[in-house]
Amino acid sequence: MAHITKVDVSNESWNETNAGLIAVGVFQDKSFTTMASNINDSNDGVLSKAIEMGDVKGKNGESNLFYIDGQRIQLLGLGKKEELNPDTMRLAAGRASRLAIDKKIDHIAIECPSNENEICQALAEGLVLGSYQFLDYKTKEKNAFELKSATVLGSDKNEISKGAMIGNAVCFARDLGNHPGNVTTPSKLAASAKDIADEGGMDLTVFEREEFTEMGMGGLAGVAQGTDEPPKFIILEYMKGGDKKPKVLVGKGLTFDSGGISIKPAGRMDEMKYDMCGSAVVLGVFKALALLKPELNVVGIIPSTENLNGAKAYKPGDILKAYNGKTIEVLNTDAEGRLILADGLSYASKHYDPEYILDFATLTGAMVVTLGHIATGVMGTDDNLIDKVLKASKATGEKVWELPLWEEFCKQIQSSIADVKNQGSPPQAGTIVAGAFLKEFVKKGIPWAHFDIAGTAWGGKPSSVDPKGSATGWGVRLVLDMMDV
Ligand code: BES
Ligand code: MG
Ligand code: ZN
Repeated sequence: MAHITKVDVSNESWNETNAGLIAVGVFQDKSFTTMASNINDSNDGVLSKAIEMGDVKGKNGESNLFYIDGQRIQLLGLGKKEELNPDTMRLAAGRASRLAIDKKIDHIAIECPSNENEICQALAEGLVLGSYQFLDYKTKEKNAFELKSATVLGSDKNEISKGAMIGNAVCFARDLGNHPGNVTTPSKLAASAKDIADEGGMDLTVFEREEFTEMGMGGLAGVAQGTDEPPKFIILEYMKGGDKKPKVLVGKGLTFDSGGISIKPAGRMDEMKYDMCGSAVVLGVFKALALLKPELNVVGIIPSTENLNGAKAYKPGDILKAYNGKTIEVLNTDAEGRLILADGLSYASKHYDPEYILDFATLTGAMVVTLGHIATGVMGTDDNLIDKVLKASKATGEKVWELPLWEEFCKQIQSSIADVKNQGSPPQAGTIVAGAFLKEFVKKGIPWAHFDIAGTAWGGKPSSVDPKGSATGWGVRLVLDMMDV
């Protein structure tokens, strides 16, 4: 773990703080934030002069460093004043954290330029996310500088600590994704769930291979046949919402996907350590629940295993029976995520009366072809739920795009010898067909949405809040927003 864990607030002025860097803002109309204006006025208009010289334009994304009166002042461009939004603020705060790491400064201060709750929250999120580095395997000291703490000046809103906690939850999800397959194993996911359950007063149930096989989870049992690493079926219950219907989250916890007997090409197979990022969304959300303690009922379900090629590995042609009794003809052992999710969704449908079910999975390579690393594909059975998703997506800046689960696609998974098959008509519409397959395992009448995060869980363009070559924690903020946390 290398990131700020807590963001403080203080009413100190810029020349009282002992922070190694003070970040303030300027807008595109060349007006300053309150503290930037104070600094400018008490120092001979030093910032105005930089504007006159043309170096400071106030554009969104800009960062200029000044040395004034023995202090480092970072002047952050915030774009158009009337358009200041949480996204702009998150990215700007991320730039402050990044500059601090660059300069090896372990404590920074930043001015909050707005009174809006969402902007204050986003500022704190940005500080934490921008401070994130994955250093656990760097043994050389020189590569391992960490930003330790941040103080927000000019606001003492509760949203600042809330944003810091949400940032922490996202970083928690990133860490799970970034650790390699020999560290983030199904056992590690179960141990993380245990830590969260203890921290947040939640119930945890973990079914081992023998138990879930006996219970009839033939999808998970089938995929897990090829590995000696103990698979797990993990259930977290956070029940602090009285008699409210639970919201159920299901996450693909495939800790390494070789493709199984339908083996993947060697190039970039290492990236398949990220195939558990769906489960990281679920655990990240539960981490936030443990920290924020909202009055909600939320259930998290994580089927988890490796997909490997051991002597007992399942084979193309095998027929498996899922937890809801449906039989599945396996045509490709690399379409394994849908098989373990079949059991997760069936279990959620049978044992709960959910307000809705959301599932998260790095499910198809086709998703990366469709929307690249820019947006997540979402599919579902309930227009109101999809509207809720789209609304949350707008609020958090995590982009989603709806794909159609039309009947024509749903027909493509009908098998001639079993109820369904785990592949449609490749290479056509691979992402939608996977969604159509999952739909078979959700009880009719339960609002359900499926998120294919294959493109967004890692591999996107780096930014001040998303480091290069790292899991992103995509989705944690969106789910929390959907649940009004
Ligand atoms: N984990 C992969 C999907 C994936 C691939 C995510 C590349 C991110 C990048 C999944 O288990 C998979 O292998 N899906 C197959 C399905 C196909 C065999 C029907 C795919 O997309 O190729
Ligand atoms: Mg696969
Ligand atoms: Zn997979």
